[in-house]
Amino acid sequence: MKILVIGSGAREHAIVNALLRDSTAHEIVVAPGNAGIHDVVETVSIDTTDGALIAEYASEQNIELVIVGPEAPLVAGVADELRKAGIPVFGPDKAAAQLEGSKDFAKEIMNAARVPTGRSVSATTMADVESALDEFGAPYVVKADGLAAGKGVLVTADRKAAHDHAAFFIHQGAVLIEEFLDGQEVSLFVLSDGDAVVPLSPAQDYKRVFDNDEGPNTGGMGAYSPLPWLPEGFVDEVIETVAQPTIREMSRRGIPFVGLLYCGLIVTPIGVRVIEFNARFGDPETQVVLERLESSLAELLLATATGRLASVAEPVFSDDVAVTVVLASEGYPESPVTGRPILGLADALAVPGISIAHAATARDGDSEGFVSTGGRVLTVIARGADFVDARRRVYLALDRITLEGSHFRTDIAERVAR
Ligand code: AMP
Ligand code: GLY
Repeated sequence: MKILVIGSGAREHAIVNALLRDSTAHEIVVAPGNAGIHDVVETVSIDTTDGALIAEYASEQNIELVIVGPEAPLVAGVADELRKAGIPVFGPDKAAAQLEGSKDFAKEIMNAARVPTGRSVSATTMADVESALDEFGAPYVVKADGLAAGKGVLVTADRKAAHDHAAFFIHQGAVLIEEFLDGQEVSLFVLSDGDAVVPLSPAQDYKRVFDNDEGPNTGGMGAYSPLPWLPEGFVDEVIETVAQPTIREMSRRGIPFVGLLYCGLIVTPIGVRVIEFNARFGDPETQVVLERLESSLAELLLATATGRLASVAEPVFSDDVAVTVVLASEGYPESPVTGRPILGLADALAVPGISIAHAATARDGDSEGFVSTGGRVLTVIARGADFVDARRRVYLALDRITLEGSHFRTDIAERVAR
């Protein structure tokens, strides 16, 4: 199959690796990709938020499937242009991508579809913010309405910090004040062709930058899959109470959701609650979910894009487990220091069961080496018979990589490794 993947992160590198595991006969192009992706497939430099340009390129190149990785192109309407041009695309139209693009819209859909989620108030003035903070009490949960690259959400016991966060974002639109939900988080990816829904294997992401969930929220510092502690029937329950009602409500409104509904969930003592929806694969959860996928990713995503999801076999996952850890630059997430050489990647890859997905790397001049170009530099992925085994491998591999000032969490999947 001739496939165009849009995006430049570790998620897209993991998607490419999974497609190549399906079949080395796939012809894959990534726009714009990154230095690590460029080592395995062709990359092309295109403005990935310019839908018309991408549709023109995809037509010229006879692309049979476009997979959109990040949210920005979806919210910009790239999938709309591709559908208009008759090219199968995995990823929702602009209107449906509002499930991720606007937290306010997501709450409206959840309320209409009776999907369990935290109580919230959408505030447009600071007076409304103050009264909502009083109503819900500490810890405070304050969310910017639009896309904020993981930086829009603040969970804090500090009233002044909650106030300041709301005051910063209120100029850009509504601010959501939400009740605090306590429990383990679960990321469940659900494929939908607008009608049928098919879950992938659950994963858990670590959002805070430091061990023991300390420090600010990030885009994600590590993940593992599967989740052995989930109660029996959990995925079926989420499909029935969250995914199906949401997908039905979207169709009912004439904005069918075609692509991946990322259900960000909290398992609270009184039941599962949605904390957010995303309209795309999560990063770094994709790295562990796809590592365990045994079915053909290209077939699943093409069936999703072309309304045939009900007729494909359910995805099969390995009994092996997977753990991924993000290597971050000095100063991430506030002010990452970039441009530093990354050494030891070949030694890290020599550890059995290890793969590496690049995120923010570039070639170091004409040399064989890489330099860092952003905050989340790369993710190391380990596969193992159990979590003790996979953790040993992932950290052995990380110890072989040198990047001055870099840091990573040492407690990824610790809670399941016994
Ligand atoms: P979001 O971008 O909405 O996923 O929020 C980022 C992170 O903030 C989540 O992964 C949670 O760790 C935390 N968070 C968001 N909403 C809540 C909530 N209502 N209660 C507790 N933690 C939350
Ligand atoms: N790992 C969280 C996200 O992709 O939004």
